[in-house]
Amino acid sequence: MISRPVGALSGRIVTPGDKSISHRALILGASAVGETTVSGLLEAEDVLATATALRALGADCTRSGGQWRIHGRGVGGLAEPDRVLDMGNSGTGARLLMGLVASHPFTTFFTGDASLRGRPMRRVIEPLAEMGAAFWSRSNGRLPLAVRGAVEPLAIDYTQSIASAQVKSAIMLAAMNTPGHTSVVEPARSRDHTERMLTHFGADVSFVDAPDGGRTITLVGQPELGGCAVEVPGDISSAAFPLVGALIIPGSRLALVNVGVNPLRTGLIETLQEMGGRIEAVDARELSGEPVADLVVEAGDLVGVDVPAERVPRMIDEFPILAVAAACARGRTRMSGLGELRVKESDRLAAMVEGLVACGVNAEAGPDWIVIDGVGGALPGGARIRARHDHRIAMAFLVAGAAAREAVAIDDGSAIATSFPGFCALMNEVGADMSEAGA
Ligand code: S3P
Repeated sequence: MISRPVGALSGRIVTPGDKSISHRALILGASAVGETTVSGLLEAEDVLATATALRALGADCTRSGGQWRIHGRGVGGLAEPDRVLDMGNSGTGARLLMGLVASHPFTTFFTGDASLRGRPMRRVIEPLAEMGAAFWSRSNGRLPLAVRGAVEPLAIDYTQSIASAQVKSAIMLAAMNTPGHTSVVEPARSRDHTERMLTHFGADVSFVDAPDGGRTITLVGQPELGGCAVEVPGDISSAAFPLVGALIIPGSRLALVNVGVNPLRTGLIETLQEMGGRIEAVDARELSGEPVADLVVEAGDLVGVDVPAERVPRMIDEFPILAVAAACARGRTRMSGLGELRVKESDRLAAMVEGLVACGVNAEAGPDWIVIDGVGGALPGGARIRARHDHRIAMAFLVAGAAAREAVAIDDGSAIATSFPGFCALMNEVGADMSEAGA
């Protein structure tokens, strides 16, 4: 795919549904008694893989008239799947479902694409094994793996060593069919969509905040979850791409409609505002227990900043596109505490540096940090980037091309469909020029 430099982005984009919340709406719908309706579900490959897996576990998930309907089996009511669950590219789908089945007394097999088969699963295997599940994985805790769920699951108090919403959520989903109180202590707060949605479905979830920024979350096991209506807000991690495009392409003004602004997801907005970015949240409201707003963005000069490590969990997926904003800013941007980026859909630190350097920007990374010397305006561009089958690397460099002096190409844009189907068409509607290379 190729993205050519353009004049300005302007107009209005309705942000596609939040990926994290979409997975959780399907999973809790499948665990509730009665019908759950979901509107605004993200119909992207990752979420559709979760829907397919839940069908194999016995829950009825169908799309009708723009809404999704799920007939749940009740907590603990899922059935052994008669096939391997292929979670595609989705770490969230794989880890959350491993948690869900860990407290069901049957065996489930998981696999995924080449990227997912290379990602670490010990972080979920360890706590779920403490709860009584047994695992057979490839070496180093990689997929494919089999889970034999506990017949009599045990409630645990688990202190996380990394701030991971996926690990926290896997434990809480296993805890649903576990008698007693299960607690997770998180060292730094990560996205709380599971906690919010459990509450929305009627579970008893409580919190104790620690003075150092951590939190203990406790779920009372075996709740009666009732089917309900869920409205999924737009995904701030998807809105991030047009948002940064509008900040760095002179003359742009864009409205991003219906964006989820959960404070545990808004680290990118804070960082861009510190860099001088003009972003305004208007019409703040709430959808199914999640805060939502429209974001109005205007282009302007950006300056480099230091991004504090403690902000990382609140913007974990936004570093590839922040790197593009930093490349256009005046001065140096330093980001630290980024070790987790090495084990996302690709090694994102390596991908960011390789892509920026190819685009003529000075950038350097260490084990868990990156430094970018912004050029203070349009970045040179004129490069072909290896997207490493990573949706966020692909979209970040397509946005870079729109803001560059010369076009930027990526080797493969197919991964974009995992989180943002129709990305290029939507960007082109507001003024971008993204197409199949050679078209
Ligand atoms: C997610 C949590 C994050 C994020 C991922 C989605 C979730 O991963 O990177 O895209 O939905 O819980 P970690 O919690 O493992 O950092």
